[in-house]
Amino acid sequence: MAVQPVLRLGDPRLRVRSAELEAADFGSARLVALVQDLRDTMAAAAGAGLAAPQIGVPLRVVLYGMDANPRYPDAPPIAETLLVNPVITPIGDECDLGWEGCLSVPDLRGQVTRWRTIRIAWQTLEGEAREQCVSGFHARVVQHECDHLDGVLFPDRLSDSRAFGFIPELQAAGLIPAVPG
Ligand code: NI
Repeated sequence: MAVQPVLRLGDPRLRVRSAELEAADFGSARLVALVQDLRDTMAAAAGAGLAAPQIGVPLRVVLYGMDANPRYPDAPPIAETLLVNPVITPIGDECDLGWEGCLSVPDLRGQVTRWRTIRIAWQTLEGEAREQCVSGFHARVVQHECDHLDGVLFPDRLSDSRAFGFIPELQAAGLIPAVPG
């Protein structure tokens, strides 16, 4: 249980489809340890979410959530949520354009189109089925993190290859908010 190194773009382990957890995995010490590693690593990096493949574990597990986050000064707080074997279904056909970053793509942000509202079906640590509808930034975080489980990173989904750059340059251009402090 510890902060783990976060794999970065170019590492082929970020590009594989991760495996579903099976009945015997739920509640196992291995899964509990993985979740703690995700929590510790996400906190150390001040990330909004982290998917297991980002720490080199090819399983369909995502942890996300944040209080006020300096990486996303305009975003609302989101309660910590663990998704095991998540499945996303869009609700309606409305999309939003927004800026995204990723701990596996450090120092960069890009503009990505995401479904505005989605239904998430997933399992808990103990294997109980859950379902929830979420919108806006929350839906964006979930779509971004679940993409990692299929080996997809946000630069694959740029709305425009020019809407992509280093954070200080985008801030200087007034394209993304400046981070206070
Ligand atoms: Ni990411």
